[in-house]
Amino acid sequence: MEPAGPNSDVRVRRFSRRALLRLSVLAGLGAVAAACAGPAPARPGLTFVPTPSLTAAPAAAFTVEIHRSPTCACCHEWVAYLRAEGTAVTEVEEADVSVYKRSLGVPQELWSCHTSVVDGYVVEGHVPLEAIERLLAERPDIDGIALAGMPPGSPGMPGPKEASLEVQSFRDGVVTLFGSY
Ligand code: CU
Ligand code: CU
Repeated sequence: MEPAGPNSDVRVRRFSRRALLRLSVLAGLGAVAAACAGPAPARPGLTFVPTPSLTAAPAAAFTVEIHRSPTCACCHEWVAYLRAEGTAVTEVEEADVSVYKRSLGVPQELWSCHTSVVDGYVVEGHVPLEAIERLLAERPDIDGIALAGMPPGSPGMPGPKEASLEVQSFRDGVVTLFGSY
């Protein structure tokens, strides 16, 4: 059994401000969703029983906060891919992305061009949206996920896909396969 040691505390501290921010955003969205859902229409003989899927926060309620170099072209393409899929993206320009990567503990072997933060997790590189959605659905105890380098055919990268995209997870510098896409 894994003790909830100082490592998990570090991660909580590292993201506490962002986590709080996102919680407040999610709470706001939840309130909107609740307001939109409104009371069930009165229909004689029928009882309205809300299902968990109707009351849970909507799956798409997350924002990808991408940190990128001001001049990165493929970063723009990854943002365009996410937005085309209906994902909210905010962009932050970094004079030196490697400083930002280090500050979030992204293992250097996994570095790509841009680094994102999504709902308290780090998402490094041209990660497919599918992997981000799985991350947020499962919420594993990790620092984040990464697609190392900039593989051809990955979202936002040109060219045919030469191999399946191996998305890695990392926690305190330890790298484990998250999934193949
Ligand atoms: Cu890139
Ligand atoms: Cu990029």
